[in-house]
Amino acid sequence: MKTLIGTEIEHAADLLRTGEVVAIPTETVYGLAANAYDETAVLKIFQAKQRPSFDPLIVHVHERVQVDQLVSLLPAGAEALMDRFWPGPLTLVLPKTDRVPDIVTSGLDTVAVRMPAHPEARALLQTLDFPLAAPSANPFGYVSPTTARHVADQLSGKIPYILDGGPCSVGVESTIIGWEQATGQWVLYRPGGTPLSEIEALIGAVGRPVALAEEERPSSPGMLQSHYAPGKPVYIGDVGKLLPEQHGKEVGVISFTKHFGAAHNEVLSASGDINEAARQLFAALRRLDANGAEVILAEVFPPEGLGAAINDRLARAAAKRP
Ligand code: TXA
Ligand code: MG
Repeated sequence: MKTLIGTEIEHAADLLRTGEVVAIPTETVYGLAANAYDETAVLKIFQAKQRPSFDPLIVHVHERVQVDQLVSLLPAGAEALMDRFWPGPLTLVLPKTDRVPDIVTSGLDTVAVRMPAHPEARALLQTLDFPLAAPSANPFGYVSPTTARHVADQLSGKIPYILDGGPCSVGVESTIIGWEQATGQWVLYRPGGTPLSEIEALIGAVGRPVALAEEERPSSPGMLQSHYAPGKPVYIGDVGKLLPEQHGKEVGVISFTKHFGAAHNEVLSASGDINEAARQLFAALRRLDANGAEVILAEVFPPEGLGAAINDRLARAAAKRP
């Protein structure tokens, strides 16, 4: 299959209407989208990504009416969250309606919904009369793409079209919180583009999921430890101390503001802007994965704002794979 990269929203819409998959820009990362109501189309997402069927997808909408078709119950706090953070990088996991195919939710009785803020994603959703199921547009287990080129590097030949909306403005995936019916509590499944402190300021304390052993089936597979791993060993900590230990090796370093003088240095924001650092993170990981670095060292970032999401993704990248 020949993969085209372009900016034609109508072309993307036509492909989606005929049951094809299309890579689309969002403000967080690029997604691999299909008609959420078309099981055959959604199956193509799993095939292109080689994603295991137990990992459910996020459904993208552009108006609240669509939420009513997908979600059977809006618990306390849900309206306030949507009012405050949508469109934007927050995903809500809520009880689903029968209209949502099992393949989208991996058979769970909940569905993850989000309203993206990216103007092209919104324009595309507006021309369609169905919502879009879309995971990040990377092969399963690899770093998410934040440019159309990243998508092409890995999915070329597997999908017909990549809608190019420029580099993603947030750069890390959405924050995922879920309302758990058994306890009536909101729980954080994945830190991301919406800082948890802002969510808690609105709805009060959000619970943390019980830590899972890696081999267990996750309630939110974004929680799989090694989900964002590049192909090289990653160590996190005090880079000034870790660097001499790697003597004789070609080292890549990911740091916030400081240049460490290693063979490959990725300073994510010289001016100390955590949002800029988040925006740069995945491209930096990809560069270090592709160049001669034998090992990647990363700093721990300040945990405020998007720093929590950066630390989460780096920790996953560092987790040993089976
Ligand atoms: O920013 C984002 O969220 C991007 C863009 C494309 O929207 N999407 C994204 O999707 O990161 P993905 O598939 O890479 O991660 C979605 C995660 C799944 O791995 C899973 O952890 C969680 O969403 N999820 C989806 N449905 C769920 C459900 N019903 N219950 C719990 N977790 C769910
Ligand atoms: Mg993903």
